[in-house]
Amino acid sequence: GLLNRGASAGPTSLGSSASSQRPLLIAFGSQSGNAESLAKRLAREAAGRGFAARAAGLDSLQPADLVREQNVLLITSTWGEGDMPDNATSFWDAINQNGNSPSLAGVKYSVLALGDMNYADTFCLAGKKMDARLAELGATRIIDRVDCDVEFDDLAKTWSSSAFDALASEPTTTLTLAPAVVAEPSVQETGYTKKNPFPAPLLANLALNTSGSAKDTRHIAFSLAGSGLDYEVGDALGVYVKNCPEVVDSIISAHALDPNADVALPDDGVAPLRDALIGFYEIRHLHGVIPVNPITLSDFIGGLRKLQPRLYSIASSLKAHPEEVHLCVGAVRYELHGLQHKGVASTFLADRLPLGETTGVFFHVAKHFRLPEDPKKPVIMVGPGTGIAPFRAFLEEREATGSPGKNWLFFGDQRRTTDFLYQDQIIEWVRKGVLTRLDTAFSRDQEEKIYVQTRMIQAASELWQWLEEGAHFYVCGDAKRMAKDVDTALHEIIQTAGGKSADEAAAYIAEMKKNKRYQRDVY
Ligand code: 2AM
Repeated sequence: GLLNRGASAGPTSLGSSASSQRPLLIAFGSQSGNAESLAKRLAREAAGRGFAARAAGLDSLQPADLVREQNVLLITSTWGEGDMPDNATSFWDAINQNGNSPSLAGVKYSVLALGDMNYADTFCLAGKKMDARLAELGATRIIDRVDCDVEFDDLAKTWSSSAFDALASEPTTTLTLAPAVVAEPSVQETGYTKKNPFPAPLLANLALNTSGSAKDTRHIAFSLAGSGLDYEVGDALGVYVKNCPEVVDSIISAHALDPNADVALPDDGVAPLRDALIGFYEIRHLHGVIPVNPITLSDFIGGLRKLQPRLYSIASSLKAHPEEVHLCVGAVRYELHGLQHKGVASTFLADRLPLGETTGVFFHVAKHFRLPEDPKKPVIMVGPGTGIAPFRAFLEEREATGSPGKNWLFFGDQRRTTDFLYQDQIIEWVRKGVLTRLDTAFSRDQEEKIYVQTRMIQAASELWQWLEEGAHFYVCGDAKRMAKDVDTALHEIIQTAGGKSADEAAAYIAEMKKNKRYQRDVY
């Protein structure tokens, strides 16, 4: 009787029976998996509060589902230049059809937008657009949208509990027999997480460019020995980093502050200002800012955000390198207005972490970026520059598992002689037949620019054939220009080589996305 609770409640259960539970759909648009895991967690919490809750990706939903389920909480991240996540594009198109938009009258909803303040212009833009559009279509906003920065846990909690309260206080209009909760077990917590990272010793820091290159790309290897940690190719590694001490010193002196004054740390505790700025706060936006007004120490610290670990796509397979994890890191250093700028994480790894020393790491599971389950499926990978990282991991995995599927790599960078990252390993894969086909695009080896998408278009008919054979198509690297141009090229190829109209090509690509055959890891 009373002890019989939960999703599989039988006929003897008391309390809220399934037929009197309020339906609740927690829909997610997710690129890297954050919105997805949050949605699933909130669905479990909602179930605990008596909702018949389920979490579902926007790629599995039609506007009509929202109307049927009535109570909708939508969580979406933003990527690229304020774009919808890949799994949200088909839904977004469906609610924006010219002259044929569905009515969402009767739907009660609220939006939680995930974003990153570092991209101020497009901060939470996908969530803002969804929120506005749902209202336009007649849905009722039960509580205001909440926009979150990278540390979204607290705001998400406040938003979800207000949303649950608001929905619970609404009169129920119908008694739907809602589907039971998707009580997917929470992700197996290994001992090491973002909150409790593993101190991984640095094993290698090797230059991947040769002298004369305009770039400084590093092969970084960490040891996972003794951690029991496990990852899959396609996952990312979270890395705790520190700011550059010289940059910190210049900020402290520009603001005329005392480096030894004790200041509060973001979570708890105190430390001297200099240590706090090196290890605990984001300072990039302060670099080169000359204070107009004197500022008190507590105002200064109060305005700072907590230093965030950085995510890097993993460049290795555990099957090829047991107990190791490798990254391919482009050291960011440039001069602007006479001031030296350094990427915090990339120069920490390239310049400031000595071999053998440890830094905190954790794994970020990226279910949206996976090799095909069927090892016979062909794979096409487009990864210029550091975008090569996950494809080195994919190829190591396909080789180690003896996968029979064909592999095609597009790699590009500035110059063949200085910038052909992992050249030896890649050439060896061609020799062994692991790589069925390799196309390189060295943009500065000739007068006109040749990019990876130039090579794709030159190979249009063969690429189309691979797609028709069921190939999975992957892109990794620059989101703003490269990934957009590659996407345009893909549309073009499907039209010219596949003999399709622009609309048919778009539908073909939407279908590929839906079947997880078009996956992107872009930044
Ligand atoms: P470029 O810098 O010579 O223009 C990796 O950085 C490679 O990506 C470089 O060869 C770079 O060329 C190239 N690249 C720059 N813009 C690109 C774009 N829009 N599409 C594809 N590749 C691009």
